[in-house]
Amino acid sequence: MKLSKFGKKFSRHSGIVQLMDDLGSAMAENDEMLMLGGGNPSHIKEIQDLFQHQLQDIVDDRPRLDALLGNYDGPAGEINFRKGLADLFKEQFAWDITAENICLTNGSQSGFFTLMNMFGGENEDGSKSKILLPLIPEYIGYTDQGLSEEFFVTVRPKIEMLDDHTFKYRVDFDSLEITDDIAAICVSRPTNPTGNVMTDDEIEQLAILAQKHDIPLIIDNAYGLPFPDIIFVDAKPLWHENIILCMSLSKLGLPGVRTGIVVASDKIVKAIGDINSILSLSPGSWGANIAKGLLEDGEIIRMSHEVIRPYYHSKALKALEVIKREFDGLDYAVHKPEGALFLWVWFKDLPISSYELYERLKKKNVLIVSGHYFFFDQVEDWDHSQKCIRMTYSMDESVVEEAITIMAKELKALQGK
Ligand SMILES: Cc1ncc(COP(=O)(O)O)c(C=O)c1O
Repeated sequence: MKLSKFGKKFSRHSGIVQLMDDLGSAMAENDEMLMLGGGNPSHIKEIQDLFQHQLQDIVDDRPRLDALLGNYDGPAGEINFRKGLADLFKEQFAWDITAENICLTNGSQSGFFTLMNMFGGENEDGSKSKILLPLIPEYIGYTDQGLSEEFFVTVRPKIEMLDDHTFKYRVDFDSLEITDDIAAICVSRPTNPTGNVMTDDEIEQLAILAQKHDIPLIIDNAYGLPFPDIIFVDAKPLWHENIILCMSLSKLGLPGVRTGIVVASDKIVKAIGDINSILSLSPGSWGANIAKGLLEDGEIIRMSHEVIRPYYHSKALKALEVIKREFDGLDYAVHKPEGALFLWVWFKDLPISSYELYERLKKKNVLIVSGHYFFFDQVEDWDHSQKCIRMTYSMDESVVEEAITIMAKELKALQGK
């Protein structure tokens, strides 16, 4: 078999492939595995009941069901959902927005593939454009998305210790340089893997910088406001014509319907719709149809704020308590959990690499993600990149507790403690 450059690049070993493999096999094959590795949202009964009601309404309405199953949507996705979303954003945040500013994709992951390659990569004149990630560690799912090599420019953060065992990454604006080859800036907020929420001030500064250089700021809002609202600190969502805001129904509890949402200028939305036609004809309709009914009376906001947010916040605090108890005696620091589904832990005197730690823990039926995947091109010469791990706390609390306890034992044994 002779694969093209594309075939080789997209089938070689990558962090996201390993992560999805681990997730798939842990879910399907190994009941014993304590899965703190993936980003699967929890199954929250109250939320699942709401989805069931929506689905029941669809099934009970035969013409609607026939249309949903039997028709392709347009390339930008289901129009009534897009209209309802635009109204919701207008009402909540006073954004000047219509359905023409919203495009759906088959999951936000595939929306990112489109967006990244719309801006980054080879230009008509042969020059190359790059995407700037102004704060790494950043989402593992971007790493391999570029159709060409050397796709990202990354910047290390400032590390601020908040107390002996808590820290926060901050954008290092002094090191941020927007050279002519930068075509877009991209951040996840809340950030996967760290649970960081960039401050309003940091986001505004990035938006100003982007505008000054006439490039878009892409904000990955997969965990953010107004839904699924997995965000535990005060933060304002920001959107204007120079911002591309990416959202998703996945962390609301619907990863299976694969629905991503891009909010952008009408020109960008039109381009993404055109690319949707080429790549997949049109986005799937199920997510939009389930969520459409939840837009009425702002139910999607209520369920996010009153059920999803407190659910994850409480889980984060409980996982932190176990860490404090079990990691006592280790030199560790946790990134302040401000949102998303993860705890990001830095073991300052880890005697092996985080990948070796991942492998050792996997043998003990504990799955975490090695932090080095999230540091892009800065892995080789930055010691910090080998000393962090990501763990999710979305699983059952007993699973999280048992996994942390096993991890603590392994770390103490490694250090002869
Ligand atoms: C920060 C971030 N962005 C995007 C995605 C992609 O999500 P989906 O394709 O399910 O919408 C994820 C999934 O974990 C994520 O964590």
